[in-house]
Amino acid sequence: MAHRLCPSRRPLAWLLRGLLAGLGGLVLVNLLFAGAGEELLSWLLTLFLGGGRAVLPADPPLPGPGAFLIPNLDACGPRAPFLLVLVASAPGHVAQRQAVRASWGGVRRAAGYPVQTLFALGAPGSGEEQAQLEQEAQRHGDLVQGRFADTYANLTLKTMMLLGWAAAHCPGAAFLAKVDDDVFLNLPALARHLGALPSPHRLYLGRIHWRVWPDRAPSSRHHVPASAYPVGAFPPYCSGTAYVLSADTALWVLGAAPHVPPVPLEDVYVGLCAHWAGLPPTHTAHMAGSTHYPLDPCCYGEVLYSVHEVGPQAMGAAWALVEGEGEACTPLQRALGVLRCKVLALLQDL
Ligand SMILES: *[C@@H]1O[C@H](CO)[C@@H](O)[C@H](O)[C@H]1NC(C)=O
Repeated sequence: MAHRLCPSRRPLAWLLRGLLAGLGGLVLVNLLFAGAGEELLSWLLTLFLGGGRAVLPADPPLPGPGAFLIPNLDACGPRAPFLLVLVASAPGHVAQRQAVRASWGGVRRAAGYPVQTLFALGAPGSGEEQAQLEQEAQRHGDLVQGRFADTYANLTLKTMMLLGWAAAHCPGAAFLAKVDDDVFLNLPALARHLGALPSPHRLYLGRIHWRVWPDRAPSSRHHVPASAYPVGAFPPYCSGTAYVLSADTALWVLGAAPHVPPVPLEDVYVGLCAHWAGLPPTHTAHMAGSTHYPLDPCCYGEVLYSVHEVGPQAMGAAWALVEGEGEACTPLQRALGVLRCKVLALLQDL
């Protein structure tokens, strides 16, 4: 018995076993807790269910010029960006827009790819606010405003408006990201990821919500009446904080809209449209959902593509970590990736 407990007899073999066990443990923890399992699952979904419908709807309904209060039809310019980011904003969120412009939203090139950021809004409650928005639009040239009341219940309208604007007035953009105005976007990391994909088609990428049931409480912000969605859980969809569609997927979503019940939750609605078109979402653990990550140089500078609930004050500090000199991560930090960031987030909450 004694000789079996003594590791010194074959130190190399024991070392190797220890290393393998450690590596196995790390892979397992990654699969269970850091999103690698979900990525695998969504990849399998795409593999088996990704056939989709055979033909694009010939003419997805696109908004005409009358659908806009600030149409900004030439914003995209003669050379479309590789990635067009449309930030869903509200008329009053001036500070958030300014923080985005002064940080990630101000760049026109990320990791070598042309990018562009615009803001999508609805109509404010007063003529005074509208006049301020028109001034802001003149000064920065980056607003697109739809002709509908800017309310929480109209967020689905806002998303369909921005998708329609992009399809009609920036059709050359290979990818379209929809993000909220309190989201930090690591544009270089995201552009690099998109540029490395084997194909720029049929993409619906984000943090997947797998089995969400409609909220039937009438007082809830997320209330979905049975008339809009009678039974069962929603099909998997990407969190509305930040998701990416390829240009063809955006057309599919627009084309599917007339066939899909008008659920007032914009991310669920896009998920339903993609589902109708046979386009399952792809999960990425690099998009943060609602986890609050501490301002770690490696997590913000390189690992995470999007982080939710980053206020106007923190946006510049987060972006400085991307723009900083030198490498954001050590090789070990890079290897641990999202797992390390999750652990940091967990420790912060203790
Ligand atoms: C959505 O916008 C339309 C058009 O402005 C408006 O009539 C409607 O009241 C809005 N809906 C909600 C729930 O705010």
